[in-house]
Amino acid sequence: MKRTEIRQLLKENPAALLNREVCVKGWVRTKRGNKNVAFIALNDGSVIHNIQIVADPAKFDDELRRITTGACICVEGTLVESQGSGQAVEVQAGRIIVYGEADPDSYPLQKKGHSMEFLREIGHLRLRTNTFGAVMRLRHQMSYAIHTFFHDRGFFYFHTPLITASDCEGAGEMFHVSTLDPENPPRKENGLIDWDQDFFGKFTALTVSGQLEGELGATSLGKIYTFGPTFRAENSNTPRHLAEFWMIEPEMAFYDLDDLTALEEEFIKHCVRWALDHCMDDLEFLNKMIDPGLLDRLRSVIDTDFVRLPYTEGIRILEEAVANGRKFEFPVSWGVDLASEHERYLVEEHFRKPVIMIDYPKEIKAFYMKQNDDGRTVQGTDVLFPQIGEIIGGSVREENYDKLMTRINELGIPMKDMWWYLDTRRYGTCPHAGFGLGFERLMLFVTGMANIRDVIPFPRTPKTAEF
Ligand code: 4AD
Ligand code: MG
Repeated sequence: MKRTEIRQLLKENPAALLNREVCVKGWVRTKRGNKNVAFIALNDGSVIHNIQIVADPAKFDDELRRITTGACICVEGTLVESQGSGQAVEVQAGRIIVYGEADPDSYPLQKKGHSMEFLREIGHLRLRTNTFGAVMRLRHQMSYAIHTFFHDRGFFYFHTPLITASDCEGAGEMFHVSTLDPENPPRKENGLIDWDQDFFGKFTALTVSGQLEGELGATSLGKIYTFGPTFRAENSNTPRHLAEFWMIEPEMAFYDLDDLTALEEEFIKHCVRWALDHCMDDLEFLNKMIDPGLLDRLRSVIDTDFVRLPYTEGIRILEEAVANGRKFEFPVSWGVDLASEHERYLVEEHFRKPVIMIDYPKEIKAFYMKQNDDGRTVQGTDVLFPQIGEIIGGSVREENYDKLMTRINELGIPMKDMWWYLDTRRYGTCPHAGFGLGFERLMLFVTGMANIRDVIPFPRTPKTAEF
């Protein structure tokens, strides 16, 4: 018999299927009952809700003994209006096939709630919990929302390489890619490793950003975006950092700072609105079980105008707060790279809404950002969000060849591998801008989850790469 997904039974058209024979397949969440009747809550991942199976113990004695939490079963039966409260319909079992038992003595997911830390240790099974089901369905919906947003606005999805020879962010936090024998690499006369003999004939690493190649796309196709994995070997054991995360990097020719911040705001609002429009079942579950402020926070973001805040003004606000007795762990003065406690003060306490900070000191930002006429700030933008801190980093790009070269020389960036990037400024240079959104930071915001390790199926962080 043809299988029907639980999503269809519960949501799409239960009336049309009522009193018909249906076939459902999935994993058992719970089984309860007495000697007269057994109730099985079955979930197939298509939706947060379970379908209730009602089975006669006299008829299914053997099957019911084998069915415990975690077992995988197939049930054929009649879809009927439910007698009990809590669900509109249920399946009256006519036939049960047990595909796979789950030994209750060893199956780690039992009905009681488990801590997120414990669930990380069973990363291969945590996806079967309600919480991770909700998060992963939302992850899919957000990916789809992102592609839809850019496609509808004439952006092209542009694939940038994962293996690269240039360090876009200049932070040197790259994972090296090599096929040389680590025990015995070829060496030059001076004793240094001879990367010329490596697979690519040069020193290569996993990309920290697709931006530099993205700029080549924007300066030919006009508007592009990337959406792919990004790797950073920074030893940051925080709830907001991963060593492997997904980044969305749009890059646009002829955009200035106002165009850029407008796109950043529109983009995030689109994603949040999409979640509210398409994922309410999962959001309601997360709002109930994980974060009671979630739905209010999501709604408030789409209804509010984000603040545009020059860095210098932000520092003034923070200094004033300090003068009025507000304590921060890290000191504040013009020129410092804001710590997340500062960002969160501005967003959560001072403005109480998302803030797009602009015009940063050039010393704390990357070489490619467009320099302002004041000689000390650049047109960088960070979008700062409640609970999250920085969710987007972006900038107008320095399109002037001489200014860019001066900055590169000041910073001592090795240009050998960057000649192709500089050519964009030598041939038909144009004003342009772009930004990077950390997908998992967006997921943190949209799900209300507290730790970035719990919004990606298989997190990569220092000392963890198990699953
Ligand atoms: O601010 P970042 O480093 O900017 C760039 O990489 C630019 N090339 C982007 C661009 O202009 N095209 O990173 C962008 C965003 C951050 O705002 C943050 O959301 C996320 O990427 N991010 C991380 N997310 C998870 N784990 C990490 N270790 C992250 N590092 C950055
Ligand atoms: Mg940044």
